[in-house]
Amino acid sequence: MENHQITLRFLAEPTDVNFGGKVHGGVVMKWIDQAGYACAVNWCKQYAVTIYVGGIRFFKPIFIGNLVEIRARLVYTGNSSMHIAVDVYSKRPQEAEYVKNTHCMIIFVAIDDDGKQVNVPKFNPFTEEEKRLQDYAIRLMNLRKNIEEEMKEFY
Ligand SMILES: CC(C)(COP(=O)(O)OP(=O)(O)OC[C@H]1O[C@@H](n2cnc3c(N)ncnc32)[C@H](O)[C@@H]1OP(=O)(O)O)[C@@H](O)C(=O)NCCC(=O)NCCS
Repeated sequence: MENHQITLRFLAEPTDVNFGGKVHGGVVMKWIDQAGYACAVNWCKQYAVTIYVGGIRFFKPIFIGNLVEIRARLVYTGNSSMHIAVDVYSKRPQEAEYVKNTHCMIIFVAIDDDGKQVNVPKFNPFTEEEKRLQDYAIRLMNLRKNIEEEMKEFY
């Protein structure tokens, strides 16, 4: 496993079903959180909590019995925060090609035993793709400022 990314692969089980017979959206969100957590903790080497999840869009359903692949990539670090891009893919086990089901950005903050945030090692993008994803994370962070301003009455 590379330090900044992780892939989980498993079968969608009958217990993951929603009322329409496909995989429940909440189950997919749990998988995203788990993959993001593993990616974040592997990077900072200590406990981390989810502080934000955004932009989850379910493009296509996942079917029970599908092989599911969750790809989580660290794309940006702040002081204590780790921004992780997560893509969810699935396919019938006998098929060759995965389809993309979901994409989102999830952010974790490293915390110590007293629940205080701690600084994380800086992620330095190296490849063109890593640089592109870091720019994407920064643009999303700036866009979120307007969304948070709009939502702050409910915080
Ligand atoms: C994590 C926690 C200790 C952070 O404390 P806080 O005072 O709320 O956060 P701060 O304002 O100090 O910000 C901490 C980091 O989160 C980032 N952050 C804060 N609000 C954010 C938001 N809405 N979106 C993205 N990042 C955000 C900040 O930019 C900062 O990052 P940096 O250190 O890299 O600059 C606190 O929010 C917490 O305990 N939250 C609950 C976490 C949890 O239980 N998650 C599981 C779901 S129940």
